[in-house]
Amino acid sequence: MTLAPPRICPMNVHQKIVFSCSPTSKPVGADARAALLKDPGFGRVFTDHMVTIRWTQERGWHDAQVRAREPISLDPAAAVLHYGQEIFEGLKAYTLSDSSIALFRPEQNARRFRASAVRMAMPELPESMFLQAIEELVKIDAAWIPTGEGSLYLRPFMFATEAFLGVRPSHECLFVLIASSVGSYFKGGAKAVTVWLSDRYTRAAEGGTGAAKCGGNYAASLLAQAEAIEHGCDQVVFLDAAEHRWVEELGGMNVFFVFDDGSIQTPPLDGTILHGVTRDSLLTLARDMGATVREERYSIEQWKADAECGRLTEAFACGTAAVVTPIGRVKGVDGEFTIGGQSVGPLTMRLRSALVDIQRGHAPDPYGWTERVF
Ligand code: COI
Repeated sequence: MTLAPPRICPMNVHQKIVFSCSPTSKPVGADARAALLKDPGFGRVFTDHMVTIRWTQERGWHDAQVRAREPISLDPAAAVLHYGQEIFEGLKAYTLSDSSIALFRPEQNARRFRASAVRMAMPELPESMFLQAIEELVKIDAAWIPTGEGSLYLRPFMFATEAFLGVRPSHECLFVLIASSVGSYFKGGAKAVTVWLSDRYTRAAEGGTGAAKCGGNYAASLLAQAEAIEHGCDQVVFLDAAEHRWVEELGGMNVFFVFDDGSIQTPPLDGTILHGVTRDSLLTLARDMGATVREERYSIEQWKADAECGRLTEAFACGTAAVVTPIGRVKGVDGEFTIGGQSVGPLTMRLRSALVDIQRGHAPDPYGWTERVF
């Protein structure tokens, strides 16, 4: 059965808000910032500011602020701490070759944030406000955007703040946007990674929250991810919850398969898989390169058989954080197999370059995906 996507209503998409701005009195100095930006890794280096917007049932969205990044104080009864009502997004700002700053398809994240909110019974942040918040933070913290290979990873999130222990949707929420200067997600850069096939755990079931970007999905992946690390793997790969045979996605990334006839395949968006912006962009790029593209289920038995007979030549993971990362080896309790001699495949690299070149302004953008902030 295919599930209908959550209904998101068209109202309020364009509603704007006025931000008050109180810049930090203690910005990180230029030398200290330059040292941090030399090798930021992923998700450890944070900028000087954050954006917050409050929502209450009575007042709707209000109190929009650009302010110093600092700890948030929460009532210990805040609903998020008990029932996990939380959603988030991830997108990047890049320095282009002409020194301007651009975002990549931010309206897609704004839309998905609303869809996630609907699924988690939370208020829908108007897309225009989401985009305003992003622009405000990118402008005030532009000095934190690494040049070269790095980027500014933007992390919008929203959680239930009402102090109430009854189980129902919170009447108060806080939207927060922080930013982190990042290099590559995996330590080895674009080198092929090894994935662990989880036989014990699943990530999402039909009717659940798999298509929403909510913290709970990631919490549910952590034990399996820890198991992957214990077995010397970089990431976990999940199978479907009903039959334990269909490949769904990695801990936080979509997955693609490349075949010897040049075609590519990725699991369909059937309600348990995240609607990845990178996934969608790669499907478009692959089609426009003339590749046959299938959004169809792929079983683990078939993956193994195709890899062993050479019909499957490449596989890769993709996401905002990971960009396009080749998968060279699959390990599980029943053994392991390799893909394409664990080398970095040509179509994987072609797609990665085509995407990154558009994101960084090194190639024309016929799709209108890049949005200049200034
Ligand atoms: C992303 O690619 O933005 C993700 O959400 C993956 C992970 C860092 C949570």
